[in-house]
Amino acid sequence: MTIISVDLSDRGYDILVKPGALADAARHLEPYAKNQRLFIITDENVAANHLNQLTNQLERSGYNIERFILPPGEKSKSWLFLEKLTDWLLAHGVERSDTLVAFGGGVVGDLTGFAAAILKRGCHFLQIPTSLLAQVDSSVGGKTAINSKAGKNLIGSFNQPTFVLIDPLVLNSLPDRELRAGYAEVIKYGLIDNAPFFSWCEKNGARLLARDPDALSHAIIESVTAKAKIVGEDEKELSGRRALLNLGHTFGHALEAETGYSDKLVHGEAVAAGMALAFQYSVRRGHCDADEARRVSDHLKAVNLPNSLATASVYAAGQNLVEHMMHDKKMASGTLPFLLANGVGKTFLADDVDLTDVANFLDQAQ
Ligand code: GLY
Repeated sequence: MTIISVDLSDRGYDILVKPGALADAARHLEPYAKNQRLFIITDENVAANHLNQLTNQLERSGYNIERFILPPGEKSKSWLFLEKLTDWLLAHGVERSDTLVAFGGGVVGDLTGFAAAILKRGCHFLQIPTSLLAQVDSSVGGKTAINSKAGKNLIGSFNQPTFVLIDPLVLNSLPDRELRAGYAEVIKYGLIDNAPFFSWCEKNGARLLARDPDALSHAIIESVTAKAKIVGEDEKELSGRRALLNLGHTFGHALEAETGYSDKLVHGEAVAAGMALAFQYSVRRGHCDADEARRVSDHLKAVNLPNSLATASVYAAGQNLVEHMMHDKKMASGTLPFLLANGVGKTFLADDVDLTDVANFLDQAQ
């Protein structure tokens, strides 16, 4: 069992990583369920695989459980489902001292965390993430949001959970494609500032994707430790430190927008191609050796993740992709900060990137 703390004074919390933790959830959740009442929010896929196991065990231990089951997928991160969820919670007499449990992937975590932020001006919530992406990224750090017509994650708040419970064994029911997409966010931590961890990924990525429990646990602990440290240093992305976690996301965002945020290219796949492009663009700007960018592309290829526009099946003109970038919420005073790299483990924030040059680069990178 490993406990990683997010150091945020009165908003600080622990993240527990333990294979098999779900089977023992009643004991782990005990300090956080003040009224012995838990509101579990999940989706249909997670419910089919894990909800009975969790609720039976909690009920046997004396908890009173209420469950809300969302349709799977990004469409649940909407005003409609925020309203349905908050109406349901209020109809069930939710009190500020009650605890909401986000039991699912990023969509469930983001919607539940935002509902908890606004309901009665703030309820407790905790996260039991069930996808690799949620375990290594979205369940930690308190970013919560829904989507609007104008774009993804544009309505939301920073709202830290009170606890995160991660059981790597729940990933056994995760589809291969989702596991691989989540692995892109694992690689990201190596590329940001931990070259030895990227080397570990090169050696162990295939083992992890074959669901070796030791490889999964190691990658989750490394990733969560890195994220907890960055969030502790820059909770609200003000100093530029937390922005490092956006490596690959600006290019990736353009690819996701171009493919309509659809199953053609899921978020982690877009981030994978985005990281390869960020490294290639760093080479063009003279920051990084071509060999380093090739190393990134080679590893992505080796684990069957997209590492280019073509492998992401995006054939748009550079200018179209740049226009998508300009709708990114990170755009400020007409400039868009980019995460570039001096090499593996040497990511930095560049705020002097010329978008016309990016469009030309993307035309040549097709
Ligand atoms: N996923 C980026 C962040 O949490 O800041």
